[in-house]
Amino acid sequence: MSSELEGGQKTAGFQPVAPATGKLGVMVIGLGAVATTMIAGVEAVRRGLAKPIGSLTQMGTIRLGKRTDAKSPLIKEFVPLADLNDVVFTGWDIFEDNVYESAAHAKVLDEKTLLQLKPYLETIKPLPAVFDQYYVKRLHGTHVKTGTTKRDLANQVIADIQAFQQTVDRVVVIWCGSTEIFLKATAVHETLEAFEAGLDNNDIGIAPSQIYAYAALSLGVPFANGAPNLTVDAPALVELSKKKSAPICGKDFKTGQTFMKTVLAPAFKARMLGVSGWFSTNILGNRDGEVLDDPESFKTKEESKLGSLEYIFQPELYPDLYKNLYHKIRINYYPPRGDDKEAWDNIDIFGWLGYPMQLKVNFLCRDSILAAPIALDLVLFLDLAKRTPSLKGIGIQEWLSFYLKAPQTAPGLYPEHDLFIQLMKLKNTLRHIMGQDLITHLGLEYYD
Ligand SMILES: NC(=O)c1ccc[n+]([C@@H]2O[C@H](COP(=O)([O-])OP(=O)(O)OC[C@H]3O[C@@H](n4cnc5c(N)ncnc54)[C@H](O)[C@@H]3O)[C@@H](O)[C@H]2O)c1
Repeated sequence: MSSELEGGQKTAGFQPVAPATGKLGVMVIGLGAVATTMIAGVEAVRRGLAKPIGSLTQMGTIRLGKRTDAKSPLIKEFVPLADLNDVVFTGWDIFEDNVYESAAHAKVLDEKTLLQLKPYLETIKPLPAVFDQYYVKRLHGTHVKTGTTKRDLANQVIADIQAFQQTVDRVVVIWCGSTEIFLKATAVHETLEAFEAGLDNNDIGIAPSQIYAYAALSLGVPFANGAPNLTVDAPALVELSKKKSAPICGKDFKTGQTFMKTVLAPAFKARMLGVSGWFSTNILGNRDGEVLDDPESFKTKEESKLGSLEYIFQPELYPDLYKNLYHKIRINYYPPRGDDKEAWDNIDIFGWLGYPMQLKVNFLCRDSILAAPIALDLVLFLDLAKRTPSLKGIGIQEWLSFYLKAPQTAPGLYPEHDLFIQLMKLKNTLRHIMGQDLITHLGLEYYD
């Protein structure tokens, strides 16, 4: 019989996901706008002051079985995720400000909300960071670790993580730090052995984000990357991730403009409409905008943002529609707007017989309000992956591409950028690990 469902998963070898017992420690690298908005937001939700809007783990449901079964539990009730009440935060930053001070500086959340949360937020004070201005030109860090080699610095981060592990049951590390300069993977990133030698001889190709990542992965701790830095997107770190069963995923939170791109581009492609040009510009006035004003950091961001359209449109399959697409991205630092980013997209499309049309998108968003729930979901899902027998040893968690501008994949695989395919992949992964049938949306059985 034809079925909307495919494949029963509860086979003889099925191994259940371990429960989320005890405390989940979240170590955040970079306690800036995104991180403080996530931490303050989690506390606000815990106190019943606000709803976790934008978070799939907290608000999303998942359909199980046939449409006629009417069974759609909350995701957080279907898979064993850490409860927000069990989440404990700490982190590192190059400035000494505690989370309250840093959140007040970022001006994302209003003063009234922050004052209510102040006693809690003040208790989270950053550990000294691994930092080198060579990798982020616009920042001058004062609260930093010193060491003679990068290995020495990695050992200090390992000691930080181990100390925190004494106080919680599980740990996840997430990079919410500034965007580093554009780095390509070189010989030092090819193998774990080469990378470890590079730590010993201070190879310039190893950025601070990779020192944190190395430290986390060596301890078997999952690592997420909210920025477009190279970080774990290199064979040596993938090797370590697999070796230590420490899940990783792609990079760069998919929040504003790229989020919209990965919704609109699949729609044009679905209807076989051509696109000749896509011009995207932004004004942004927060510290992230200031860092991205440096051409070397912007280059990292640009590379991460450019990829999505190329992969979604598949110009090699549809040369008549997308071969000549001109894609341009600009980010302009404009202090008066602070975290309230404004993005404009002008999209030149063409339809039947080649007749041209235009679509304009003007997204007046709030960068960190969009990013905070993504950071939270990544942390909770990576912790789930670490407790899942079939996921923890595979390294890259491609099912988390949904959240990221630059998904990471197995070598030779092209990344999937279409938001709705990504969501289907994510939900089917959850069904799969819980031994439920996958959903293919075939649905012929309703007409038998
Ligand atoms: N907000 C969004 O929508 C969004 C989307 C995608 C990616 N991102 C990325 O997320 C990151 C954080 O964004 P933000 O708006 O919070 O920026 P931010 O400038 O407010 O915060 C970054 C923090 O990282 C700290 N930092 C820098 N280097 C560090 C290091 N080596 N170790 C420890 N701390 C370090 C800085 O001092 C700062 O407090 C940026 O890289 C940004 O590009 C943000």
